[in-house]
Amino acid sequence: MAPAESWWQTAVVYQVYIRSFADGNGDGVGDIAGLRDRLPYLARLGVDAIWINPWYPSPLADGGYDVADYRDVEPLYGTLPEADLVIAEAHEAGIRVLLDIVPNHSSDQHRWFVAALAGDPKARQRYHFRDGLGPDGALPPNDWQSVFGGPAWTRVPDGQWYLHLFAPGQPDFNWENPEVRAEFEDVLAFWFDKGVDGFRIDVAHGLVKADGLPDGGQGNDAAPGLVQHNESHPAWDQDGVHDVYRGWRTVANRYAPERIFIAEAWVPNNERLARYLRFDELHTAFQFDFLRAPWRASILRTVVDDAIKEAASVGAPPTWVLSNHDVTRTVTRYARSQPDHLIETDWERSRWAEEPADYALGLRRARAAALMQLALPGTAYVYQGEELGLEEVEDLPNEVRQDPIWEQSGHTDVGRDGCRVPLPWSGDTAPLGFSTNPDATTWLPQPQHWASHTAAAQDRDPDSTLNLYREALSVRATTWVGAGELEWIPTAPEVAAFRRGDAQCWVNTGEKPVELPTDATVVLASVAGTANQLPADAAVWLVAD
Ligand code: NOJ
Repeated sequence: MAPAESWWQTAVVYQVYIRSFADGNGDGVGDIAGLRDRLPYLARLGVDAIWINPWYPSPLADGGYDVADYRDVEPLYGTLPEADLVIAEAHEAGIRVLLDIVPNHSSDQHRWFVAALAGDPKARQRYHFRDGLGPDGALPPNDWQSVFGGPAWTRVPDGQWYLHLFAPGQPDFNWENPEVRAEFEDVLAFWFDKGVDGFRIDVAHGLVKADGLPDGGQGNDAAPGLVQHNESHPAWDQDGVHDVYRGWRTVANRYAPERIFIAEAWVPNNERLARYLRFDELHTAFQFDFLRAPWRASILRTVVDDAIKEAASVGAPPTWVLSNHDVTRTVTRYARSQPDHLIETDWERSRWAEEPADYALGLRRARAAALMQLALPGTAYVYQGEELGLEEVEDLPNEVRQDPIWEQSGHTDVGRDGCRVPLPWSGDTAPLGFSTNPDATTWLPQPQHWASHTAAAQDRDPDSTLNLYREALSVRATTWVGAGELEWIPTAPEVAAFRRGDAQCWVNTGEKPVELPTDATVVLASVAGTANQLPADAAVWLVAD
């Protein structure tokens, strides 16, 4: 177990989707220059660390999760010397820097895959190339489907097939090949040497596949939904993957100060997740149940208890995620009805759009959820724009959509572009301060009404969501960090209320106001003016008198 004072055990990590954060060179695409310009904003917000989505050279077949060179920076985003600068400047501002490593697959433009396609047998061993089935090999080698839709195999001109669990432009590496293992350990060291504090690991549960790549079987799809991987499928969560992370931990352990890993691992339960967090593997992992839980106190309580228990069983901090670049923005998720079965099945974007959204209600709940998230023990992840209360942009014109899911699903799933729209910073008209060039066309269009959501407009409004987050992060640091274990306070069923030390957090998911304790004082509320009664869809932080 890591020393108790480690920063990452209590950190608030801000997710920078670099393509959409801020544009410093005027081309309408976010970049490192824009991020450098906005570091003071992040310092003022009070975050401990940033996690930057992949910034490596990439044809952007999947928003940069198709990496062509793991040791360089995508020219659209900047240069390696600029990467060095932003790492140093973030550190000066007291912000740690986490990168996103993509080890399950590369881009089809990666030099190894280019060599493999050219027929080099040694290069083919670094990926999963197979002959097809049937008399002329015209059938894929097994029945696996891509997470994004369609078969997980693509045939190359000489007749063989290669595996891609995601887009065809993302061939899966063969992690049984020691060359792949050595290469990634070297890539980690390359960035650690530059001062990077750690990595978020993409598809951490996918690297090692079941021996012989057996069929999943009828009705056993690898991914029945966008990020809802089917963990009983031979593509995922194989025991062999843990050996990879023991090697990675050995690399990280060579460095001081501490370098850390966060796993993105969609596994069936927190018990399987905890296996990634054993002392000689990864430090922490996203727990996604909070992100899929409907707005229902009884369910939130269960999710919190389970996450804390399983993380504690391996000495890791629990982690809390309300949204990220793969899922519907929180405001929109909460703007529609909240049936119990949501957590199991219906939480993905494609199933939402039929019901009209009540955005005012969604925002109200999102603000309350943020106070709950930031009061819990462990680490919290804030996806850029959550602090501005942005909603999903559900009406993007089809012709601007970039997410491969749109095409691969045969236009049945609009994909994730709606949560990736460039941030509104200031002003009244597009690009709303996103770009240094006022005439820039942003890579996805911003809704005009975001003029009232800009960081500048919210800066001026004491009750804005931005100011709620700023206040929450500041109070969190003195009130909740180190406050000790969580203890539930008995309340009405539609209320989730807990105490940690002298501090209490009350969340009302019901329709009626509830009385608050009289022996404690409100220090922060998601609805301005809250004192003795907690309104519906609101949360409050109290400190004992
Ligand atoms: C998970 C990432 O968060 C997502 O954006 C990406 O499409 C897949 N992994 C594939 O890399």
